[in-house]
Order: sequence, then structure tokens, then C-alpha cells
Amino acid sequence: MQAEMQLKDILQSGVEITDRALERLLPPITQVPASIHGAMRHSVFAGGKRLRPILVYEAARTLAKGELPHGIEDLGAAIEMLHTYSLIHDDLPALDNDDLRRGKPTCHVAYGEAIAILAGDALQTLTYQTLSALSCPARVTVEILRLISEATGTVEGMIGGQVLDLEGEHSKPTPESVRAIHRAKTGALLRVSVVAGGLYAGATHHDTIRLTAFGRKAGLAFQIMDDVLDMTQNSEQLGKTAGKDMASDKATWPAVFGVEASRNDAARLINEAFAELEPYGDHADGLKAIAQYLVERTH
Ligand code: IPE
Ligand code: IPE
Ligand code: MG
Ligand code: MG
Ligand code: MG
Repeated sequence: MQAEMQLKDILQSGVEITDRALERLLPPITQVPASIHGAMRHSVFAGGKRLRPILVYEAARTLAKGELPHGIEDLGAAIEMLHTYSLIHDDLPALDNDDLRRGKPTCHVAYGEAIAILAGDALQTLTYQTLSALSCPARVTVEILRLISEATGTVEGMIGGQVLDLEGEHSKPTPESVRAIHRAKTGALLRVSVVAGGLYAGATHHDTIRLTAFGRKAGLAFQIMDDVLDMTQNSEQLGKTAGKDMASDKATWPAVFGVEASRNDAARLINEAFAELEPYGDHADGLKAIAQYLVERTH
């Protein structure tokens, strides 16, 4: 019961902290050119779970013995902007061609393809503008910038993973190919959320190694469950089109291993991830709760 309360509080306060920062950081809808600011806000405030910012905060709390370091919400908000940019582009007709996201029409459906492409671009540049002004020591800011840009790049990063995902359509996935896709397209940004949160809170080299290992396992588990949910939930529950992966012949974990084995793999990865947090004792309880939620969520 206490664990459930804790999770509920973490999720709710994580959304509130992040949304307040995003509200402050995104240009108002009245700012010229209004169309793109409308499009950016449409997608950012459509109702995401804010899991990456919440991982940032809980990783920081793990290292800061329960405290939330001052100004960390800007780091969480910046990563959420990056994630939202990746969703806007993921949904474009040239990529997954989806018309429903976060329970709302996708950005290109609401604003047209040109503005949607530019809104994604703009969220990415605003991410780095925001990161450059973080309230942590300059050397930490630079390290965070480096890690986040790597994690979203083409070499084992988000964009590289999206390329593998698209090129993997209609060819038979293997355990190796689906692992490489998942680690890169989604795992890398989740992993770097954990690591960046830790660095912001003063992580040492040894902490960073642990958080990286934790984030890698939790990130992979997250995408395995994204694939499972696509097959087992409906569009209303998900806020995005269900059954899309099979229809597009995507390389998914269940396509290779089946749904039951996928669930087991995700649960096993989370347990393995927990082992990395042992030295932090109770201070890691929040981070563990959110990692558990990554695989137990229903949307
Ligand atoms: C969905 O991510 C897209 C993937 C990277 C698989 P989330 O499930 O975190 O989506 P939101 O942010 O809550 O909408
Ligand atoms: C998207 O993966 C990953 C990124 C946005 C980088 P999916 O294509 O599986 O995400 P959903 O299922 O559309 O949210
Ligand atoms: Mg996709
Ligand atoms: Mg998609
Ligand atoms: Mg998916």
C-alpha cells in the first residue's frame, strides 16, 4: 500500500514539476510565428506520462539522499521536449504514419506536415538551448549535453534506432536485430535520463557506471512493454493506434519471442536493474518504483 502511494505521488508530482517548467520554457502561443508555437504546445501538452523527466528526478533523489536538486526541472523538461520531438517525427506519414498520439490528433494531422516537421526541429533546438542554461557547474552541463546528444544521434542513439526500425519493416527480425533496435531507438534516451539526473545531483564515475547499467536494462524493458501493450491494449487505453506494429510488420520483441516471454524478459530485466542500485539502499526506492512501473503500466 505504501509502495503504491509512493508511486502515485512520484508520478503525479513528476508530471506537475515538468509541466510547470515546460509552460515557462516554451514560447507562448501568441508569440509570432504563432502556428509553430501552437504545434509545439499541442504535442507537448497532449498528456504524456513524463516518464523520462521522472527518471531524471528519481535518479537525482537516489544520489542526493532524497532531496530534489534546485533547478532540475529544466533538465527534465528539456528531455521531455526531445522525446516529444521524436514522437512528432515518429508519427509522420514518412515514418510510422499515425494519426493518434497521447489521445489527440498527431501534430501533422492538426497542423500539417510542414509545421509538424518544423515543430519537431524546434523542440530539439529548444532542448539544447534549455540544457545550456542549466543551474549546475559548467563542466556537468557540458557532460550532460554530450551524453544527451550522443544518445539521440545516429550511432546507437535514437535516430540510428529509428533508421533500423524503419529498415527492419518487412524483414524477419532476429533476437540480435530487435535488441539493437530497442536499445537505440528508445533505450538510449531512457538510459541517459537516468544518468543525466544522477550527474546533475553530483554522481561520481562509479555512480555513473551503475546508473548507466540500470538505465540500459530499464530502457530495454520499457520498449519490450511498449511492444506488448501495442498488441494487448486498445487505442483508447493507449492514446495511440493499437495493433500498429503487426500491421506495419515491425521488428518487435513479441514478434521474435512471443507475448508471454516478452513480459517475463521485461520483469527479469527490471530485477537485474535493481541489483545496480543496492549501494543506495532506501534512497533508491523511488527510482525502483518508477522502474517497476515501466513494466507494469497499462498505457
Ligand atoms: C512512447 O513513449 C514512445 C516510445 C518511445 C516507445 P511513452 O510511452 O513514454 O509516451 P508518452 O510520453 O507517455 O506519450
Ligand atoms: C518510437 O517507437 C520511438 C521513438 C519515438 C524514438 P514506436 O514507434 O514503437 O513508438 P510508438 O509505439 O509509436 O509510441
Ligand atoms: Mg516508430
Ligand atoms: Mg510509432
Ligand atoms: Mg510502439
